[in-house]
Amino acid sequence: DAKQVPKDFLHINDFDKETIMKILNRAIEVKAMIKSGDRSFQPFKGKSMAMIFAKPSMRTRVSFETGFFLLGGHAVYLGPDDIQMGKREETRDVARVLSGYNDVIMARVFGHQDILDLAKYASVPVINGLTDYNHPCQIMADALTMIEHIGRIENTKVVYVGDGNNIVHSWLLLAAVLPFHFVCACPKGFEPDAKTVEIARSAGISKIEITNDPREAVKGADVVYTDVWASMGQKEEAEYRKQKFQGFMVDETLMEIAGPQAYLMHCLPAERGVEVTDGAIEAPNSIVFPQAENRMHAQNAIMLHVLGA
Ligand code: CP
Ligand code: NVA
Repeated sequence: DAKQVPKDFLHINDFDKETIMKILNRAIEVKAMIKSGDRSFQPFKGKSMAMIFAKPSMRTRVSFETGFFLLGGHAVYLGPDDIQMGKREETRDVARVLSGYNDVIMARVFGHQDILDLAKYASVPVINGLTDYNHPCQIMADALTMIEHIGRIENTKVVYVGDGNNIVHSWLLLAAVLPFHFVCACPKGFEPDAKTVEIARSAGISKIEITNDPREAVKGADVVYTDVWASMGQKEEAEYRKQKFQGFMVDETLMEIAGPQAYLMHCLPAERGVEVTDGAIEAPNSIVFPQAENRMHAQNAIMLHVLGA
């Protein structure tokens, strides 16, 4: 079936390779302009964005708000207590009311159905700022960071070590669009969603491996990637997970096994001494801070895309 052109940015594989590359190239272009101090590009002048946060955030909130402002727009932050989506007010009502005030909605929610409902009932574009299921803006920023540091995404080996969570799902959905080798090394019982693994595999574009052996997995990796073992909404499982994830910490030894070509990436926030060591994060091959900075540039290009600017 021919895919409909989506008004929203909810999953990376809602787009074809050409569109994803177009957004990434736009990010590079607009980043150069912003870094040069040039503020003449104001495509969002007179536009406003509602930002719904059902969960905490530093990067997503600040990068969206700042990026939208730098391109001429105004962003409204709505924290967990403001809307209380699904509690004080139904999602479909939130979507329609905000569509009357704002040109675009960005939302970070718990259940993935909430972002689907927002997108369905909003007449303006909805951008997914993380759900329990995925985090597409993060992986677009990660792809941008790989282009800058490695020169490409295609034919690289990306090895994710840790929990098969929302970050992994977005990597898998990117692998359904662009060709690279993606490996997820996770403890038994913490594998990514089987349906999503199947989407990535059946696309027939990338090599996809799910394994329980991080030491074998990281060999020859261009990127070793990790994330917290207990995501937002799972924090009460943190101690239990620490037991289950023994042997999955990304430390200097694992990076050495990966090889000198390997970069360390982490979406942050990191728990040093849990899923990653302080030494690994502070090492010269760690690109976690350029990666974090790229959230803003990738998202600026995503906003330009959905707003047709
Ligand atoms: N990586 C990321 O999304 O960070 P925040 O939770 O701080 O937004
Ligand atoms: N997996 C983490 C990502 C945070 C940016 C979480 O969902 O909490």
